[in-house]
Amino acid sequence: MSPISLAKRAQLCKPSPILMLAAKAAEMKAAGHNVISLSIGEPDWDTYDNIKEVGIGAIRVGMTKYTPANGIPELRKAIAEQTSQDLGLSYDPSQVTVSSGAKFILFSALQTIVDPGDEVILVAPFWASYTTMVELAGGEPKIVVCDEDVDFKLTPELLRKAITPKTKAILLNSPSNPTGKVYSREELTKLAAVLRDHPKVAIISDDIYNRLSFESKIAPHLLHVAPDLRDRVIVLNGASKSYAMTGWRIGWALGNKEIISAMTAYQSQSVSCAVAISQQAAVEAIRNSETQVAQTVQKLRERRDFLIEELKKIEGVRLSVPEGAFYLWINVQPFIGKSHKGKVIRSSEDISVALLEDQFVAVVPGNEFGLEGFLRLCYTLEKEKGREAVERMKNFFYALK
Ligand SMILES: Cc1ncc(COP(=O)(O)O)c(C=O)c1O
Repeated sequence: MSPISLAKRAQLCKPSPILMLAAKAAEMKAAGHNVISLSIGEPDWDTYDNIKEVGIGAIRVGMTKYTPANGIPELRKAIAEQTSQDLGLSYDPSQVTVSSGAKFILFSALQTIVDPGDEVILVAPFWASYTTMVELAGGEPKIVVCDEDVDFKLTPELLRKAITPKTKAILLNSPSNPTGKVYSREELTKLAAVLRDHPKVAIISDDIYNRLSFESKIAPHLLHVAPDLRDRVIVLNGASKSYAMTGWRIGWALGNKEIISAMTAYQSQSVSCAVAISQQAAVEAIRNSETQVAQTVQKLRERRDFLIEELKKIEGVRLSVPEGAFYLWINVQPFIGKSHKGKVIRSSEDISVALLEDQFVAVVPGNEFGLEGFLRLCYTLEKEKGREAVERMKNFFYALK
């Protein structure tokens, strides 16, 4: 035991359960087990070649030094132009800040606007890191549970009820991790009407999956239907998902200049800047990877449809078709309460632990996303592996007593 006590803030900070699960799966793999992982949210294909070449070139020509804390000008320009086109609004490079992944950008945004006691509305099921990040900023997560009956999406009625005088911000994520659900323009219009009545509430729009959208090239956005809210919206995005660049660690935000400058100051005193090489590569990703992204979306669509057909063969599993991202959110409530090798399965976490130990299949339990009774399956893996994973899941579920 350390003679030095941990700060309260560190005590709040639980390690990411998804990364822990992935580490356990990796350990089992190293021990020789044939593990199939549907847990960690990243592509199983590599960063596109044109992007890699630019990264290598950046090293060769010595672009290996510190950069401005808000990112190199070429990257901020590329981001401003792409986002302006995506959202039909005009953003200037001075309204952009770049840092080490969208995760840190979100952290920086919350640190910048949330004071102790402020409430931040989170729509459950939500990405697992949101709650801890809000707490680390001293804020209180105000969790609004959006179950199957509302298609896992926030409704105007639920939003209105959740807003209090202490509400500082709401976090929206569409396409969603973990459900893959996408808000329609109509749904966003109704949410915008409620938000207009609360001019002091910031809207953090986590758009990390916006290009991985099956119904339209770019997923519908709050600012498509409510451009008048732009000064209150912090737009978050990054290179990880669309361009298969999870390890390059590039994320960005756009918004009101005062907020963006404060975020940059925070970033400058913490990580200084994002990796210079990755920033160069991200310019190439944004400017010249549209064809590859379109191919990726097509590949994901095929994998999604294939895995859904396979999962339908398991009696008792319920799911709906996701419209974006790369996750399936499946209802496994009928299996909770049954027993596995004499031990009662009490939660989705019990299912995921037993499934990994018994069948070497890694999935993430719903409780990590704020909703019990579900599993999240990441379908970035090849069809054959997906088929094998579902076969093993079927064996597992059917063996429950
Ligand atoms: C909803 C959501 N937001 C943000 C991120 C962070 O992405 P990164 O830090 O890799 O840019 C992720 C990654 O899993 C995510 O799922």
